[in-house]
Amino acid sequence: MLRVGVMVSGGGTNLQAILDALDAGKITGASIEVVVSNNPNAYALERARKHGVEAVCLSPKDFSDRDAFEKAFLEKVDSYNLDLIVLAGFLVRIPEAMVRKYERRIINIHPSLIPSFCGVGFYGLKVHEAALARGVKVTGATVHYVDGGMDTGPILLQKAVEVKDGDTPEILQRRVMEEAEWILLPEAINRIANGQIQEEEK
Ligand code: GAR
Repeated sequence: MLRVGVMVSGGGTNLQAILDALDAGKITGASIEVVVSNNPNAYALERARKHGVEAVCLSPKDFSDRDAFEKAFLEKVDSYNLDLIVLAGFLVRIPEAMVRKYERRIINIHPSLIPSFCGVGFYGLKVHEAALARGVKVTGATVHYVDGGMDTGPILLQKAVEVKDGDTPEILQRRVMEEAEWILLPEAINRIANGQIQEEEK
């Protein structure tokens, strides 16, 4: 059984998609051991609790400095003996020591077709604002491994989504979630849990 921890910062619709996929048997061979948020008000924590999953909050604001937060965060995550860490709308940069320790064991969902509209400053609605401002006709979502950079790790899965006339950032965000993110992230977890990731992708 693949022991999975999900890191969240906000609404947690991607977390919900994972929980629903587990219930529906679309993810097999994996269990969610913990959901960790940096934001005490994240609705994602509520979603976890409702599903009977342990929900933990570690806010940088509760620590004297960044180093203290990162140390506590890594210790907390380590305590669950996770095989896979899933960043599902987690807006905190993963500490370098953690990236090294969990090499090829951290995946992230990003709401664009990387390498477009990614990197520092591109998160949440900002990604869709930038895509609309550039006038792209196709956008999408990407699941990738996390390395030392921002959205630079090896790509696991991508799915394209059409941009339509009259789209607002909110409408586009919703379409990208429905047509790509909520499908790709459970699929990536299921593939990893069942050894279906190609050797060259590892
Ligand atoms: C999702 O769209 C996710 O792709 C994005 O934040 C949103 C979280 O929504 N992540 C990033 O932008 C990371 N760079 P959710 O809390 O409802 O899952």
